Amino acid sequence: MTAVASKGQQIAARDAGGNIAALSTIVAFTQDESTQEALTRLAEKGLMPHASVVPGGLSTAVTTGMPDCTVLLVDISDSPDPVADIHHLSGLGAAQIVATGPVNDVTLYRALLDAGASDYVVVPVVPEELARALTVKRREERSDAVAETTMATAVIGARGGVGATTIAVSIAWLLAHEYKQRTALLDLDLQFGTCALALDLLPGRGLREVLESPDRIDSMFVSSAMVNESDTLFVLGGEEPLEEALYLNPNGIGILFAAIQPDFTNIVVDLPRTMVTGQRSLLESMTSILIVSDLSLSGMRDTVRLKALAQESAPDVALEVIVAEGQNRRNTISKADFERGIEGKIAHIVPFDARTADEAASNGRAVPESGGSRRPLVKSLRQITGRVALEGKPKARRKWFGK
Ligand SMILES: Nc1ncnc2c1ncn2[C@@H]1O[C@H](COP(=O)(O)OP(=O)(O)OP(=O)(O)O)[C@@H](O)[C@H]1O
Ligand SMILES: [Mg+2]
Repeated sequence: MTAVASKGQQIAARDAGGNIAALSTIVAFTQDESTQEALTRLAEKGLMPHASVVPGGLSTAVTTGMPDCTVLLVDISDSPDPVADIHHLSGLGAAQIVATGPVNDVTLYRALLDAGASDYVVVPVVPEELARALTVKRREERSDAVAETTMATAVIGARGGVGATTIAVSIAWLLAHEYKQRTALLDLDLQFGTCALALDLLPGRGLREVLESPDRIDSMFVSSAMVNESDTLFVLGGEEPLEEALYLNPNGIGILFAAIQPDFTNIVVDLPRTMVTGQRSLLESMTSILIVSDLSLSGMRDTVRLKALAQESAPDVALEVIVAEGQNRRNTISKADFERGIEGKIAHIVPFDARTADEAASNGRAVPESGGSRRPLVKSLRQITGRVALEGKPKARRKWFGK
């Protein structure tokens, strides 16, 4: 198998797991051309059955009544009250309802999900995004499915320079080398990201293209964008020119994530805080979210805001706040005040350990590889990894009896 399963392999794998696509009959109430084209393209590629397209939208579906199908796709643009209409339809039958529509708005998305839709895709649709929406299960089933297969952790620094990348790289390295599990490290800071640099790798080319034009995602494309540190650790990042503006497709990260997920036991995402907005489906796909802050007032404020956003976007995902101690001598508030401010506990405190961090940086190695296991920072990073790892204990390193 290539580093990343092709879309076809991915959906076939899901079918074997009993997912909806295997036996689905799809009825689509839509006038939207991009949706109709995507449905035709996906059916022609054999990725899903041909949909029966009914001219109209959600309002038509409400008047017609729930058709006999397993997946109902409805375009909400003709409905004066899409949330109420979805709620009405979902009360009529057991079909999975996927909504499409022109409005890209998180509040609407959440309301539609709460009303009973399993997903909402913004038009014009990207075929792969539609395929993902038509094959995922309802929200509560989905988080179980993710938990069984792939560990996915997003690390978000509440402020700059708090050590978020160090934590993300170290978790990925430990899972790959000590747990011996196939791990992808996804660096979403396309211009300033340092995940590859921290491992002394040149970032691959192509992540930007993948995120700008997710309809081009296929196995070759993604695997050529990945660089492997070893047999078990793969890094996806970029070093895009600063003078160029990036036009990332809002659905791109979610599609990429869905594409690589079947091929990895763990995915660690270094997620810049400036990119968190609009990444609702990515956050929902995580098994844990780590917010890293220093003990500063600004760190506390932004931890509160990120925590609220994460809890709103992904209420079922474990969320932990990690405090990096003493960095830049910015312990301006006490831990007790910090916990009061964030209305929650600090899950873990990372000690300030400049010697170990600096050595790792100058060696171009992950901190746990470069520093000895007695170093405070290495111990701390192992504990964090233990918190997010889904299963398995670190496998003992093979002893080397040299001649
Ligand atoms: N626990 C620590 N003790 C001392 N220094 C650390 C620690 N963790 C990270 N560092 C150092 O602090 C600097 C910033 O770390 P890192 O890049 O991981 O932070 P970041 O939060 O990802 O920053 P950015 O906002 O730029 O993405 C690096 O030089 C790193 O080696
Ligand atoms: Mg960083």
